[in-house]
Amino acid sequence: EKGTYPHYMLKEIDEQPGVMRKIIDAYSTDEGMLDIDPAIKQAFQHADRLYIIAAGTSYHAGLIGKEYFEKLAGLPVEVHISSEFGYNMPLLSKKPLFLFITQSGETADSRQVLVKVKALGYPTITMTNVPGSTLSREADHTLLLHAGPEIAVASTKAYTAQLAVLAVTAYSLGEGLRKLDLKKELAIAANAIQTLTDAKEEVEKIAIELLTDKRNAFFIGRNLDYYVSLEGALKLKEISYIQAEGFAGGELKHGTIALIEEGTPVIALATQPSVSPNLRGNVKEVTARGAHACIISMEGDNEPDDRLVLPHVHELLTPLVTVIPLQLLSYYASLQRGCDVDKPRNLAKSVTVE
Ligand code: F6R
Repeated sequence: EKGTYPHYMLKEIDEQPGVMRKIIDAYSTDEGMLDIDPAIKQAFQHADRLYIIAAGTSYHAGLIGKEYFEKLAGLPVEVHISSEFGYNMPLLSKKPLFLFITQSGETADSRQVLVKVKALGYPTITMTNVPGSTLSREADHTLLLHAGPEIAVASTKAYTAQLAVLAVTAYSLGEGLRKLDLKKELAIAANAIQTLTDAKEEVEKIAIELLTDKRNAFFIGRNLDYYVSLEGALKLKEISYIQAEGFAGGELKHGTIALIEEGTPVIALATQPSVSPNLRGNVKEVTARGAHACIISMEGDNEPDDRLVLPHVHELLTPLVTVIPLQLLSYYASLQRGCDVDKPRNLAKSVTVE
């Protein structure tokens, strides 16, 4: 039930700090460490490469998951869109492991890949929010998201749950590579999300300033921010029908910058300290051509003109926090336009056809 909330999407955005805490609990051992099921760990340890298969928002989570597995566990990863992988399988490694990320556990595009790789005898894991779903039943193992039912068509809390469970999984595999206290850092991220969901009016103002009467918008970022920019653009398209694209900051000048006009909204994510000067350079390139830029940065690496400064979290966990204002931005843009926030046109919650 959505209770006093006008929309499920807003309720689900607000549930994210609680979901983070639930994930911390669900994956904590009696000794207070974060860990995953030993059988799943074994499947990872036997693999020489992980293939993440997913669609839409879950695919965007997978792109960030790749960073986690490579950086925290030293496991090489490829991330593929289900509908592409199914009909054009790349050359596989000797010992591949398949991880299906799917909120619903029912996505037909992902299921057809699962059926194919199972027939080839490869090990499979489904990361899902729905125990007992088709992909959960059909894979060898299941990693649960613990996000609670997600009703709004636009995925919000399932995405942040996917990121958190991907981080926990990668962390639990990479014993020798542990340089962070993930449990503590996830709790800090949960608090940061809370701070942002408590400050919605600020994002509502940005939505009005930036997106009123706009036909298109660009999201730019580098490193992890690039992947979050893809998700921000998808969310905005999906529920406000504003045409939006996410770009790697440095890639704009290779073509897309031609679309920048007076007043074109550019949402620039600058939360990655190692590349934020480069990203800020990209922002100058677009503002020089008339773009209306909105810089979202993180405490500790912010500048006076930044429009929104997020509470500081560990560098790897920034996506969990950066996506929150983007979810809210699309929510308010959708509201302003009188769109059906929870049930956007042409879309279904689970896509059970190929
Ligand atoms: C976007 C969205 C979709 C889903 C995609 C995959 O907000 O919800 O892009 O992420 O259809 O769905 P699942 O994760 O259920 O396989």
